[in-house]
Amino acid sequence: MRVSTVWFLIFVLFTFPVLSSSHWWFMSQVYALGAKIMCNNIAGLVTYQRQLCRENPDVMVSIGKGAKLGVEECQQQFKDQRWNCSTVARDVSVFGKVMRKASRESAFVYAISSAGVVHEVTKACSRGELIGCTCDTKRKGRSHKGFEWGGCSDNIGYGLRFAKLFVDSREQERDARAKMNLHNNFVGRRAVKKHTELDCKCHGVSGSCQVKTCWKVMSQFGVVGAFLRERYHSGVQVTVDQSGNELVKIMADGSPAHPPRDNLVFLEESPDYCVPNTNTGSLGTTGRVCNKSTPGHGSCGILCCGRGFDTIQVEEVYKCSCKFNWCCYVKCHTCRRTVDKHVCKSPDDNVYNGNGPHLTASVANAQSNSQNRPAKKLLGDKRNKRRKERKNRKRGASSLSTNSLSRGDRENKKL
Ligand SMILES: *[C@@H]1O[C@H](CO)[C@@H](O)[C@H](O)[C@H]1NC(C)=O
Ligand SMILES: *[C@@H]1O[C@H](CO)[C@@H](O)[C@H](O)[C@H]1NC(C)=O
Repeated sequence: MRVSTVWFLIFVLFTFPVLSSSHWWFMSQVYALGAKIMCNNIAGLVTYQRQLCRENPDVMVSIGKGAKLGVEECQQQFKDQRWNCSTVARDVSVFGKVMRKASRESAFVYAISSAGVVHEVTKACSRGELIGCTCDTKRKGRSHKGFEWGGCSDNIGYGLRFAKLFVDSREQERDARAKMNLHNNFVGRRAVKKHTELDCKCHGVSGSCQVKTCWKVMSQFGVVGAFLRERYHSGVQVTVDQSGNELVKIMADGSPAHPPRDNLVFLEESPDYCVPNTNTGSLGTTGRVCNKSTPGHGSCGILCCGRGFDTIQVEEVYKCSCKFNWCCYVKCHTCRRTVDKHVCKSPDDNVYNGNGPHLTASVANAQSNSQNRPAKKLLGDKRNKRRKERKNRKRGASSLSTNSLSRGDRENKKL
């Protein structure tokens, strides 16, 4: 893993201020000089984190990887949602202002990041990469289910403890937001603990499984991600009680109650993610690819917030006519096909004002799908386009990947 990547990820986790590029260079030099200097020079660590860093420099890499795992899983889980777990690219803090708001989304980000740290630290431990931790060998002998405990069970206890020490020590205040973060960190850690399974191996004559040895492993991180996403949906809005010491959920009759331990909690309503808003960090959904044939998540109706969508054609490269060669490899050809993509319109205009010149060019040609566009204009567009197309064909300069046809044109071609 590249040094700069590690530091980037640590910064990502804690929304540090943007560093200048010379500072980046400086940081990677510092890394080479040893843990003490290194830990003293990571911007934004709190004192206790610096101490943990000096005492356990080997674990720091896993913390960085854990933060990255959390971010990637978050983007995977929310890829078809209005909020897709990303803000302006190259912003050092990936989540930017979303994290500053005490919203449901921030709650998820804290939970999945802390789960990611548990997961990666535990994995590093099982691989024997950490000085202070070994496999969990507490389980020995025969289990009541008839198999032998063996091998190396994931030592989740160590991962849980370290993640709690390191991640939770960020929260130095005692205010409502700190309590919210701590609660969600806890939910994230517990989600990893909840999702462990048995991995087994059979021994005996030709795999007869006369003897079975098993050990505990964590589930794939995607399982944890899916679980936490459910928790996100069932998240509970809370407030602090009158003493200011505890988060409480206000019941329908106005009485306070403890929020459920395994639910994510948040203090503020989410902003509107349909439109860009620099104050809340919402990017809006203009230009997002949506699914026309589903009524559920990622549907054009929901994702485009009722603004309608444009249909563009893009060329896709994929593997085809694969053949198995004796022995033992598979050889494939590369094929191309043209697929329809639907992208959300901008709120301002019927014409998409994309950010890349390439996308803009292709979408400008695309057929509009909003109902309120005058039919006459569409016809005019088509005629113009056909003329243009003929020109292009003559020039022989038509490349599918950059040239997008409206549905109308394609249908004409079929005829
Ligand atoms: C998330 O949405 C933004 C804004 O619409 C977009 O620019 C970005 O590519 C999306 N990210 C992912 C991972 O889909
Ligand atoms: C769109 O949704 C349908 C139905 O859920 C699904 O079968 C299809 O694979 C989705 N298409 C894309 C491009 O994701």
